[in-house]
Amino acid sequence: MTPLLSLRHISKSFPGVKALQDVSLDVHAGEVHALLGENGAGKSTLMKVLCGIYRQDEGDIVVDGQARDFHGYQDALDAGIGIIFQEFSLIPDLDAVDNIFLGREKRNRLGLRDRAGMIREARRLFDRLNVSIPLDLPIAELSIADQQFIEIAKALSLDARLLVLDEPTATLTPSEADHLFTIMRELRQQGVGMVFISHHMEEIFTICDRVTVMRDGEKVDDCDTHATTPDDLIEKMVGRRVENIFPDYRCDADHDDIVLDIQALRLEADGPDHSLKLRRGEILGFAGLVGSGRTELARGLIGATRPVHASVRIEGQPVKLRHPAAALKHGIGLLPESRKTQGLILPFSCRDNISLNNLTQFQGSLPLLRRRQESRTTADLMAAVRVKAPGPETPVGDLSGGNQQKVVIARWLGHQCKVLIFDEPTRGIDVGAKAEIYALMKELTAQGVSIIMISSELPEVLGLCDRAAVFYQGRIAAELEGSALDSQSIMHHATGGLSS
Ligand SMILES: Nc1ncnc2c1ncn2[C@@H]1O[C@H](COP(=O)(O)OP(=O)(O)OP(=O)(O)O)[C@@H](O)[C@H]1O
Ligand SMILES: [Mg+2]
Repeated sequence: MTPLLSLRHISKSFPGVKALQDVSLDVHAGEVHALLGENGAGKSTLMKVLCGIYRQDEGDIVVDGQARDFHGYQDALDAGIGIIFQEFSLIPDLDAVDNIFLGREKRNRLGLRDRAGMIREARRLFDRLNVSIPLDLPIAELSIADQQFIEIAKALSLDARLLVLDEPTATLTPSEADHLFTIMRELRQQGVGMVFISHHMEEIFTICDRVTVMRDGEKVDDCDTHATTPDDLIEKMVGRRVENIFPDYRCDADHDDIVLDIQALRLEADGPDHSLKLRRGEILGFAGLVGSGRTELARGLIGATRPVHASVRIEGQPVKLRHPAAALKHGIGLLPESRKTQGLILPFSCRDNISLNNLTQFQGSLPLLRRRQESRTTADLMAAVRVKAPGPETPVGDLSGGNQQKVVIARWLGHQCKVLIFDEPTRGIDVGAKAEIYALMKELTAQGVSIIMISSELPEVLGLCDRAAVFYQGRIAAELEGSALDSQSIMHHATGGLSS
């Protein structure tokens, strides 16, 4: 059977980086094909070549047995290939219908805009996907999942027979991801071929038929998913066996050594008073479902949003944290969850991004000396989290998604914080790098830093945290530690105590 798509011997270099080296990939109609690899392995680049966004240096793109020459995304679309980017290309102020038909509106016989016709067509597409999405709301008001489904509908409306999904689940809740998988199965039935990129091994085994593993820009292997195991795939991906991604380490935090004491923190006039204690050198997990109020509490604490009332002590001293800068001055830093809003300045170098709010550290030195100190510290920090980049001068915008995330972490490590709050720190991070970040966190706690880790991933909370606060509908429903800290208890409290 002729594959729907064959990428043959694709190579692509950027200045200083060989991003792809002789990579081949076949995708058949009705197949979901996983693309797996560490951060910076070349997955997104390969897909951008496929979609005409980058031009390959060598190699061929063959669709339905015919070699194609793409000079831009439009050419790929014309050949029936659609891509759903991690960063969406939808226009937030427009509704679903206008987004789907942007730039190619239907006209009636009089040449007038045929809104009714477009609505009908949009309905038909949503029916095909079995989703119900409001057609007339600005899509900024819809959930990320709905926006993603609109992207898919849009691609289908362009007759896409091959759909590329680049880390689609990174921003979805588990139930939204399940819905996406249902849609993908539906499309598979209809003969659509799909390339699916994800760092979540269980998703690969849930939804994918075949898997191609990449490492350092090269294809290492491809095989049927039912003929392999997660451990094998990880070994191929990382080049070694990753036995235990969680560091073996027991916290011996002194129960009475409280660094941060939230005595009463009220976020909304009619909301609850939160109280919580953080011990020196511990990792406290904030567990719970997406939207259960974990991020809100963290933001209220550091003054990113203004709480109604706050009584907070740091090392016994009452403090007023009116602004994130004030929190930072008191040694509390928050690494926010969304890469896009984390304030990375994409055209700026890694060095500039990392030293951005660490500048005070270097003040007082002579300019030349300061520059040198800055370079050294940046290089150390980048090495600590293993940012894969040609050097500190590389613009952050040229890094792979996961490596951008690591730059954010490196930046915060540069502060000498007493308390670090990580909000979903390992989203979009590959297995090997995850293990490194966990080890790094443990190292920080050994130096007396206390960590709050907001995480929706149970294994992460269980594997890393000394204690967990479980959130349910804007409240801390339980604090668990020791033998009481297990997945059943967390799920029990995270779902309002309904499950048993
Ligand atoms: N526009 C660009 N300019 C220079 N280098 C780039 C550019 N785009 C990607 N690279 C480099 O090419 C390599 C592959 O990046 P790519 O984005 O394909 O990785 P990835 O496998 O998608 O990783 P992730 O899992 O982090 O998304 C990286 O070293 C990256 O820094
Ligand atoms: Mg990528």
